Amino acid sequence: MQEIKFYSGEDIPLELHKVRIVQKLHLVPIERRLEALKEGGFNTFRLSTLDVFLDMLTDSGTNAMSDNQLAAMMKADDAYAGSQSFARLQKAVEDVLGKKYLLPVHQGRAAENILSVAYVRKGSLVPMNYHFTTAMAHITDKGGAIAELLYDEAYVINSDHPFKGNMNIEKLEEIINYHGPKNIPFIRMEASTNLIGGQPFSVQNLRDVRAIADKYKIRLVLDGSLLGENAFLVLQREEEFKNSNMETVIKTMTGLADICYFSARKLSSSRGGGICTDSIEIFRELEAFIPLYEGFLTYGGMSIREMEAMAVGLYETLDETIISQSPTFIKYLVKQLDDKGIPVIKPAGVLGVHVDAMQICAHIPQTQYPAGSLAAALFLISGIRGMERGSISNQRDEYGNETYADMELVRLAVPRRVFTLSQIKYVEDRMTWLYENRELIGGLKFVYEPPVLRFFMGGLEPVSDWPEKLMAKFKEDFGESL
Ligand SMILES: Cc1ncc(COP(=O)(O)O)c(C=O)c1O
Repeated sequence: MQEIKFYSGEDIPLELHKVRIVQKLHLVPIERRLEALKEGGFNTFRLSTLDVFLDMLTDSGTNAMSDNQLAAMMKADDAYAGSQSFARLQKAVEDVLGKKYLLPVHQGRAAENILSVAYVRKGSLVPMNYHFTTAMAHITDKGGAIAELLYDEAYVINSDHPFKGNMNIEKLEEIINYHGPKNIPFIRMEASTNLIGGQPFSVQNLRDVRAIADKYKIRLVLDGSLLGENAFLVLQREEEFKNSNMETVIKTMTGLADICYFSARKLSSSRGGGICTDSIEIFRELEAFIPLYEGFLTYGGMSIREMEAMAVGLYETLDETIISQSPTFIKYLVKQLDDKGIPVIKPAGVLGVHVDAMQICAHIPQTQYPAGSLAAALFLISGIRGMERGSISNQRDEYGNETYADMELVRLAVPRRVFTLSQIKYVEDRMTWLYENRELIGGLKFVYEPPVLRFFMGGLEPVSDWPEKLMAKFKEDFGESL
């Protein structure tokens, strides 16, 4: 990527786009933010955007769309079957991801459902570098189990390992031998491993996984939701691809997988999703499930306009100036927080900045959800909405026991081309204040716990009056400032 230096010597990221459509934000007083938290069960998923200032919940469906995407939406060919919009999308998938057959689905988890319905049975085991919440929920829902096979380095917060998302190859082979290849419907590799801090895998690691898949004749499934960002970090960090380009890296990665599925909410800054493959046999195995669960084979539950935006968004995934924006802003914020001693996942990954609640809230036991507590506290003192990625996001085991997460993280998503640098500096400022006042943060307990994917709609309450005390300290330090 072309470097842009400042004469002042400052190392700051520069926006390579201009803003032409804007949305007003609301920064409401802290008293209202406390009420909003109470109304929303101290769960940031349940907040209304009317109460949220910087929405860093996710990059899913929240990346800024380009002028070309919006323009493409106007020429949609509305047809139940045989739409030209689908033909354009199919061509984009072939051009960008290098796969001939496309099965359209309404979003990423729909692809996970279909792959699980088609291939997972009771007793199946799906090895993966790391789980994603919805992938795991669909596999376990069909009676399967998962095995997470990262190297130990992946769990080290303060690391400089370039590829913490790499699959542990030795463990992969061990587990295949132990369970038997027949019980393993597919190996799942997730690009830019979401739940451990948006950490990429290397192309070499994917090649090694492919070799094992070939040896035992097991399908290799690539979750390409964050493929663009993984490819960008390969260009930055993997010697072999130093002088390569996005197209080559993306096609090399997808070329190693039998099936690539993705959430278009992430990959192509649109909505929707897809499953693609070069194998007619795989296509036939999955085809019938699309009309059953999603919609006809030329729209898969998506609006036709979205498919147009998705096609253009896929081509834009090849543009390094677009894909680099979020990772460079993340790198900047990680450095600022790290310089202040605030524990964050390093090296900086993609999707967002991941703050380590296990360290920041070391005084809160995991039974009281340190990451959920930190996410609620940050919203209270700033209006910044992050996402808990810790034990609340974990699911209970088959006996109903809590399973505590390996990491208690608060993810502050930095969707593509959404925030300005002064907004990022506001995050840094409020996070610093909160870190200095971290002893005032207390724990949470569930008062309403849904049986599946509890983190989405679950309700919690504080174990003491810590939110009121934190608010009082905020007012003492900031006076009438919002
Ligand atoms: C890596 C990964 N896989 C799958 C999904 C599920 O996609 P969707 O939210 O479109 O259902 C996500 C969503 O965040 C994701 O990050």
